[in-house]
Amino acid sequence: MRAQIQKAPQIFELLKKKSVGLQHCKPTSSVCVLDSKDAAEVAPSRPSLESIPGPTNWPIFGSLIDLLRRGGLNRQHEALIDYHKKFGKIFRMKLGSFESVHIGAPCLLEALYRKEGKYPQRLEIKPWKAYRDLRNEAYGLLILEGKDWQRVRSAFQQKLMKPTEVVKMDAKINEVLADFTDRIGSVNDKGKINDLYFELNKWSFETICYVLYDKRFGLLQENVNKEAMEFITAIKTMMSTFGTMMVTPVELHRSLNTKTWQDHTAAWDRIFSTAKLYIDKKLKKHSSGQTEDFLLDIYNNSQLTKKELYAATTELQIGGVETTANSMLWAIFNLSRHPHVQENLLKEIRVAVPTGHTPCAEHIKNMPYLKACLRESMRLSPSVPFTSRTLDKDTVLGDYTLPKGTVLMINSQALGSNEEYFDNCKQFRPERWLENKAAISPFAHVPFGIGKRMCIGRRLAELQIQLALCWLIRDYEIVATDYEAVEAVHSGTLVPTRELPVAFVRR
Ligand code: HEM
Repeated sequence: MRAQIQKAPQIFELLKKKSVGLQHCKPTSSVCVLDSKDAAEVAPSRPSLESIPGPTNWPIFGSLIDLLRRGGLNRQHEALIDYHKKFGKIFRMKLGSFESVHIGAPCLLEALYRKEGKYPQRLEIKPWKAYRDLRNEAYGLLILEGKDWQRVRSAFQQKLMKPTEVVKMDAKINEVLADFTDRIGSVNDKGKINDLYFELNKWSFETICYVLYDKRFGLLQENVNKEAMEFITAIKTMMSTFGTMMVTPVELHRSLNTKTWQDHTAAWDRIFSTAKLYIDKKLKKHSSGQTEDFLLDIYNNSQLTKKELYAATTELQIGGVETTANSMLWAIFNLSRHPHVQENLLKEIRVAVPTGHTPCAEHIKNMPYLKACLRESMRLSPSVPFTSRTLDKDTVLGDYTLPKGTVLMINSQALGSNEEYFDNCKQFRPERWLENKAAISPFAHVPFGIGKRMCIGRRLAELQIQLALCWLIRDYEIVATDYEAVEAVHSGTLVPTRELPVAFVRR
């Protein structure tokens, strides 16, 4: 495993190089010509934001009407793919007063990456900031900006992104997986699991809490304790209430003390009080001399205040639960529909993990097919269809000069479902990642984002899902119970519109 992880993901390797060739970028449009110059050096004649094509921009509503016609905001991921087909690699869209520029081509992502400043910014999550300001709590990585973001990021970077550190987490991941696979065996009804997504959320929640706080919450037991249930429910409430306040002014919710605002703050209160309780317990153990612990090591080796540690840890937890569960859910679905892939995977598992052994990080280094399966599943069924950047300076992207403050949407799902970058893109075919690796641009597959601000939990998530697949596929055959289409709606992650038609049959 170590050697495999040390071989940093393809994208990192390429990013380190000074320049990446453009052979993957079929020049269907001059928009894809990379420009190494900064905006300041650019001829004033370069077209500006206004000339970027896009869907009809009606007064007041912008393109909201078209989006509503296509099924509303929770179908926006499908609309974005269509818009890219229609307008090309870059388009501009206004929803009410919110304007954004969308990019869906590897060469534009590469150009953006090359021009990335020291402190890349994402779109602000104002409701979260409003809560922290109200309670005088700190910001974590998801909402921090500038030098403070960089300081907190470096405090966690080593532990979460360094391969030799991440592999150390496999024992904890496996302890939870042993309970999870047992549970799959005991709660199924003729192989079908009632609310598989919730079960997976409990699994990822239990794992991240164990890694962060060194505490088992017991979410996979028959009778879940009250504290654990309240914690997970609070996170659900917080996530389901912030969306409304992203599209309507949070200040208004706060001053009118709306129900949404009340529920949101009550949920955060619960999340913070529980997280603080366990972080404090950890820090106390420090005085009793415990060594080698995730949080303790970070706290001791950085200048973070306790308040910053609370906020950053809480956000790691929030960032890691649903995304991981969701990616696992889609991997299960894709495997259920491709029995021959499952067969190949099982063969690989049986060779790499000797009978009677528990799959561990070390085994995974010999499992290229497993990694290809996860990659392919995340391409075809990503959990996060896009991320964003707010430009901190005037920036040239392809044909256009974009002013400072422009919100860029990086449409990773649109990239993964573009025939130009992936042949037979609708097909689930893990082999594509093993055949001609050079044929796929690393900038065409960015489910964890890109650059300095890419997902900090990526390696942990990958290890968690890879191990989970080893455990599941080794013990169960995942069968499709119907072959009807399964659609997805966007609610932060891409969630299936119905219970997945899958069953687990013990081997
Ligand atoms: C399969 C699972 C996961 C997916 C698909 C995912 C996806 C993403 C994406 C797309 C971003 C935005 C990156 C960007 O803007 O370039 C992100 C950021 C982030 N993720 Fe994840 N993530 C996953 C798992 C995790 C886990 C396990 C953790 C916690 C250990 C985590 C914590 C975070 C944090 C804190 C950020 C913000 C990083 C920063 O701004 O510095 N994620 N994730």
